[in-house]
Amino acid sequence: MSQEFVLSFKKDISLIEQPEGDRIILQSSDCKLTFKQVTSGLRTALNTLTTNKATAQQLIDLVQQRDGIHAKLKFYYHLQKLSALGWLCYSVVIDDLLLASAIPLTCDYQFSHKNVDVECKYALSRFAYCHQVEEQIVLESPLSYAKVVVSNWRGAALIAKLAKPQHFRDLTVEISGITEEIAQKFVALLLNTQMVFEVAKNASVEHTTNITLAQWEFHDLLFHTRSRKGRHTNLAGGTYRFLGQIETLPAVKSKMSAETIDLYKPNLETLKALDPSFTSVLEERKSIRDYNKIPITAQQLGEFLYRSARVRTLMKIEPTEISSRPYPAGGAIYELELYVVVNICEGISPGLYHYAPDMHQLCWLSGRNEHTEELLQGAIRGVGSDDELQVLIVIAARFQRLAWKYESIAYATILKHVGVLYQTMYLVATAMELAPCAVGYGDSDLFAQAVGTDYYAETSVGEFILGSKDSNYR
Ligand SMILES: Cc1cc2nc3c(=O)[nH]c(=O)nc-3n(C[C@H](O)[C@H](O)[C@H](O)COP(=O)(O)O)c2cc1C
Repeated sequence: MSQEFVLSFKKDISLIEQPEGDRIILQSSDCKLTFKQVTSGLRTALNTLTTNKATAQQLIDLVQQRDGIHAKLKFYYHLQKLSALGWLCYSVVIDDLLLASAIPLTCDYQFSHKNVDVECKYALSRFAYCHQVEEQIVLESPLSYAKVVVSNWRGAALIAKLAKPQHFRDLTVEISGITEEIAQKFVALLLNTQMVFEVAKNASVEHTTNITLAQWEFHDLLFHTRSRKGRHTNLAGGTYRFLGQIETLPAVKSKMSAETIDLYKPNLETLKALDPSFTSVLEERKSIRDYNKIPITAQQLGEFLYRSARVRTLMKIEPTEISSRPYPAGGAIYELELYVVVNICEGISPGLYHYAPDMHQLCWLSGRNEHTEELLQGAIRGVGSDDELQVLIVIAARFQRLAWKYESIAYATILKHVGVLYQTMYLVATAMELAPCAVGYGDSDLFAQAVGTDYYAETSVGEFILGSKDSNYR
């Protein structure tokens, strides 16, 4: 138990006094502790933990003075239990003013108790970041199971200084009111929450000495930790947090233009009889970046879109409308939209189209222009092909369609949907003897400009190129 920090209960722990039987109940959302025959010292100590007023040592001394040595040992055990439950916040205080508090994010969080060394330098982890939450600056990190709420400008100034390796003593310079003792406690608070790291003598910090961490980028690790269970207790899954406040988006985006092309619909019964076997499609699927001189046709594009991405049925399942399509999607929400950039396709003029999956139509958005050229050039660079692209399919997401229902996992789910759509497209193209290839990286700002969407409402999340396959291709 670190004795120098001021201890307090997390905000969501309630303390209920029951005079009959001298009981005190401590309760979180999922756990309850009952203290029976509570002595005067223990009662005062537990009540003090609802404020930010005492260190562990002060509480232990208080219990000993009031209830004796035996009670002191018992209280020490209680503190350890409360800490193990993740119910205790650890704070650094200057003259009764909070500087910063470490707040556990999970119930199995363990505040480590490393000491800050006078000889060592400490630096902020490259994974730590500050952001504003409910009008407070909060320091978080995907490496940590706790967050640090910074309650005072001095805390923010100390964090800024720790961007460069520092001895804790260096922190007293320039920032008024920071004594060596406070600086040491503050660094200890950040060290024990994995926000700062000890800088080795050769000045390397954790991400260069740890080859596993070195290969994680900040945004990837943050995205991973916050869209998976484990080191946070944020709500996750289908929570419908905007139900009753914001209208959900429709299952199918309304037609984007009146100029439409009715696409060819294949006969599925005929395809079932004539298609190559499932195993041969799986085994022959490959990425093809070279094309036949005879380009893909409107009929082939129609069949490809029908088999990969049309709406099979629409269903009203309260509180929203869902659909069935050839590829799977979480909650059958289907937030992905397909945009087709036609460069060369027999029977369809070059330009940009939106695919209406319910009507199985292409809606004309623009002819060939600077934006469509840039989208095509970007895809060519992505696949490194010498051949002229025939068709580029840009996959966009109506983000709010999914985020209206899902919390914590909306964007991760969108990327999974891109993956299952890619595979469906690959298999359909292979069965049709077309040339498919996924593209790993596209320009979402360029896409939003090309289509005229609000970047935050709908933008591209994947690209796929399609063309005619050279019959000599093996
Ligand atoms: C998510 C994803 C992204 C990809 N990005 C690209 C890309 O940017 N450029 C490219 O030429 N191929 C890309 N590919 C195709 C892969 O290079 C290809 O699938 C891999 O080399 C295996 O070869 P195969 O598909 O022929 O089996 C991508 C594939 C996937 C699934």
